[in-house]
Amino acid sequence: MDYKKVIQEFSHIKSVKGELTLPGDKSISHRAIIFSALAEGISRVKNLSSAEDVNTTKEIFSALGTEYDIHNDELLIKGKGLFAFKKPLTELNSGNSGTSARLITAILGAQKFDSIIMGDESLSKRPMKRVTNPLQKMGMNLTLSNDNYLPLKISAVNKLNPISYCLEVASAQVKSAVLIAGLFIDDITEVIETIPTRNHTELMLGLPIVNSEGGIIIQSSSKYIPKPQKIFVPSDISTASFFIVLTLLMKDSELIIKNVSLNPSRTGILEVLKKMGGNITIVSQSESCGELLGDLLVKSSDLFNIEIPKEIIPNIIDEIPILTIAGIFADGKFKVSDCKELRVKESDRIKSMVYNLRQFGLTVEEYEDGFEFESKELLQNEIVTFESFGDHRIAMAFSIFSLLLEQGGKINNFDCVKISNPQFIEQIKNIIG
Ligand code: S3P
Repeated sequence: MDYKKVIQEFSHIKSVKGELTLPGDKSISHRAIIFSALAEGISRVKNLSSAEDVNTTKEIFSALGTEYDIHNDELLIKGKGLFAFKKPLTELNSGNSGTSARLITAILGAQKFDSIIMGDESLSKRPMKRVTNPLQKMGMNLTLSNDNYLPLKISAVNKLNPISYCLEVASAQVKSAVLIAGLFIDDITEVIETIPTRNHTELMLGLPIVNSEGGIIIQSSSKYIPKPQKIFVPSDISTASFFIVLTLLMKDSELIIKNVSLNPSRTGILEVLKKMGGNITIVSQSESCGELLGDLLVKSSDLFNIEIPKEIIPNIIDEIPILTIAGIFADGKFKVSDCKELRVKESDRIKSMVYNLRQFGLTVEEYEDGFEFESKELLQNEIVTFESFGDHRIAMAFSIFSLLLEQGGKINNFDCVKISNPQFIEQIKNIIG
């Protein structure tokens, strides 16, 4: 994907106020498209994410013959079933989207035609073997470049076999890929998960879960082939986190964020921020397609840093960049560890965070699996230009930081925010107090 190398400037703002309604959750939106394309019939999806990553998934299915329509505020997805996809005429471009590449591999690897998945520069450096390993055990014919990276060559297959697979990395993408492949097999495929990861796939497919010693076993088989659904996608909690942290750190601020996903496998960020002294209240709660959602009321707070428990890391993995910004303004030492996975996200997020924090003048200690710094060293003499490294969450985290700084700040290569939230700037403008 080609981004304009925009430098975006942010001036200091004094407070935030009002109400925000954010686009749908990115992870749930990917799954809404994928499972609707697999179902036979028309599914209706409301509040789909506007993220470029989600558009990538949509376009890949378009190339595979899935048709869409828009009716009022709903996306209509005309699924044709597991084996009605057409052989793509060209390579399928997964752009910057790891979720698209990893989940769709599980579908293409079960087809009777060959295909190729490629990605942009960042995605082509991210590990794919974690997904192809179990899928090859199920009988898929997959060949990665340099044994771990995109482009991935997928050859036609005749028959797949079920496996019982214990996750080697705490990854919802790997878990989902194996469970999706299981839909193509009559016998039961099992995924054993010892560290909880986001569970949107299990919820949307209605898969059975068995408790076992030290974890859970999730089962999948052709019995759970998705049917057309009406889906309301709750708003993205990862996107909301940027505005939650901004509100907490601003003086005299109060914000309501509507219909936010409150799936417990994603709300770790709320738990951590509340333990840090954050004034966050859930003011209403409901459910849609098994997913919890609700309105959040956030108020200015004095934060202090806490020890972040190891077990919560997979739950907050996408929120660590913005949590770090909260950590800068909170009392005491900020430390994250056990997050080696950050090194293989859209950028090496440990390196990206450490670079920008040092750029600002903080003394930061970098580790293989995290970093630490003492907060309250906010002496700034000149406007700092932060580097996004083409990573949307790094760009948004330092945009929020810039809004909080007396002299503001600049973000280099800001355009990448489109990956998850193309309306980021308008949303900020809407809540300036
Ligand atoms: C995602 C899972 C997580 C997360 C990513 C989206 C998903 O990745 O970081 O942004 O939708 O399944 P991993 O599965 O690699 O942990």
